[in-house]
Amino acid sequence: MKKVRPGWSRRSLVVPAALALAGGAAALAWRLISPPPSRAFGGLVRAGRPQDYAVGEVKAWGSGRFYMVRGPSGFVALYRQCPHLRCTIPPPEHGIFECKCHLSRFGLTGELLRGPAQRPMDRFPIRLVNGELVVTTGEAWVIRRTEYSDIDAFDPGPVA
Ligand code: FES
Repeated sequence: MKKVRPGWSRRSLVVPAALALAGGAAALAWRLISPPPSRAFGGLVRAGRPQDYAVGEVKAWGSGRFYMVRGPSGFVALYRQCPHLRCTIPPPEHGIFECKCHLSRFGLTGELLRGPAQRPMDRFPIRLVNGELVVTTGEAWVIRRTEYSDIDAFDPGPVA
């Protein structure tokens, strides 16, 4: 015959174990649906909600070394590094990015307007996580553009 310690029953052990299991599952589910923590260049960077941007607006994300642009076709996370000789491109003036090293010019979504650069500004992948734009940054994630295309833009769906 099994001995049960006084004051202990199977039910008194099963209920806390079930609650702990449910709590762990809830924490895992929350982690999967919530945006990842924002990090600096080399990690994931949260760049705000799509509705925080007007069409044509540019926001600088210095920690991620990119400019988030909402263009007419969607969002582009432009790498600040010039595709010519890698100088840092300052924020745009009058809708044009101009690298101060050799005066290459780029349009608002990174299209090449004037050399000596031979190609558009590079970009990073964007995804939408729980309603927020999340950019994957880092040298390994740079999308090198040899030519400009509207389909490079990330479309998050309807934006209020
Ligand atoms: S490094 Fe930008 S134009 Fe040369």
